[in-house]
Amino acid sequence: MNILITGGAGYIGAHVAKQLLETTEHNIVILDNLSTGIARTLDTLHSIREFAFINLDLKEFDKICTTLKEYQIDTIIHFAASIVVPESVENPLKYYMNNTVNTTNLIRCAVANGVERFIFSSTAATYGEPVNISENGISEAYPTEPINPYGMSKLMSERVLRDTAKAHDGFKYVIFRYFNVAGADIHYRDDMLEPRIGQSFPNATHLIKIASECAVGKRAKMAIFGDDFATADGTGVRDYIHVDDLADAHIRAIEYLETHPSDIFNAGYGKGYSVKEVINTMKEVTGINFQVDIAERRAGDPATLISDNSKIKSLMHWTPKYEDLKLICKSAYEWEKRLSEV
Ligand code: UD1
Repeated sequence: MNILITGGAGYIGAHVAKQLLETTEHNIVILDNLSTGIARTLDTLHSIREFAFINLDLKEFDKICTTLKEYQIDTIIHFAASIVVPESVENPLKYYMNNTVNTTNLIRCAVANGVERFIFSSTAATYGEPVNISENGISEAYPTEPINPYGMSKLMSERVLRDTAKAHDGFKYVIFRYFNVAGADIHYRDDMLEPRIGQSFPNATHLIKIASECAVGKRAKMAIFGDDFATADGTGVRDYIHVDDLADAHIRAIEYLETHPSDIFNAGYGKGYSVKEVINTMKEVTGINFQVDIAERRAGDPATLISDNSKIKSLMHWTPKYEDLKLICKSAYEWEKRLSEV
């Protein structure tokens, strides 16, 4: 296959690229404008196997179409997007342009150029602020009512994809709704965990990234946003999924579409950890203590977000390997150490 990965220099895209380069013989084309992806990630990927890299923004509509034609792309894995929730509230048009409009154009070019498979990275933010969740967590059938432009920009893209696939035979999709993606490349050298790629996004807002920055001394302290939620210890509960397990789901999706219809899948472990549990785990695996304050709740944070992952497990036979929160925290920390060394 000729596979285009948009946002392939970014966090999740690079982990998918890594697995495709390591475990398949498909021709890989990475398209990225390097706005948040880092060039060094591309060097690391090049050391695995050759691939084509195109430095291009998705808003270059004509060039996107030309690229699909030139490389005879038959499969697209689409990551390139803006992903900061508070920013989406302040600047919604950036999100509707970068996410919904650019994705719509990519889908348009895909159909026009005979692309057969489209794998789309969506988010649990499409579910909004869930209420009345069953014990099994949020299933794909749960109503989608995003509470911010980020979630809505992704949900609208989902809709474009679904309507387009309905109208065009031979064009199929898999949509993944990610829960909380964390951790870094599980790679060992001399029996030591040594991630080659990881999260490099500047001005991080994600919990595990922030906790690892505290552990390496990049930040003096961090805050728990609210300890009065209706959860066991009062802090927010999330379903953290290791980025390599998530990447594996994308590789499976490519094969899945060979014999199955288009579909939407939650990507999470179906198990929740509280903010306190995550911070304590980070302290435990690193042996480093750091200051943690209690702060006000962050606007729009639901108490609990846990996936019902029975669909992806039963239909795609997805079997996660890195469910251990310690390994998730440890890999994030080891990557953060490497980042601060260069
Ligand atoms: C965030 C996005 C979500 C998106 C997901 C993946 C928001 C509101 N939600 O999820 O839409 O799909 O990332 O990109 O931004 N926390 C602290 N202290 C910190 C940082 C976080 O206590 O310094 C807490 C949060 O309040 C939350 C949990 O840790 O309870 C996880 O937060 P975070 O890692 O930012 O992810 P989400 O907000 O769940």
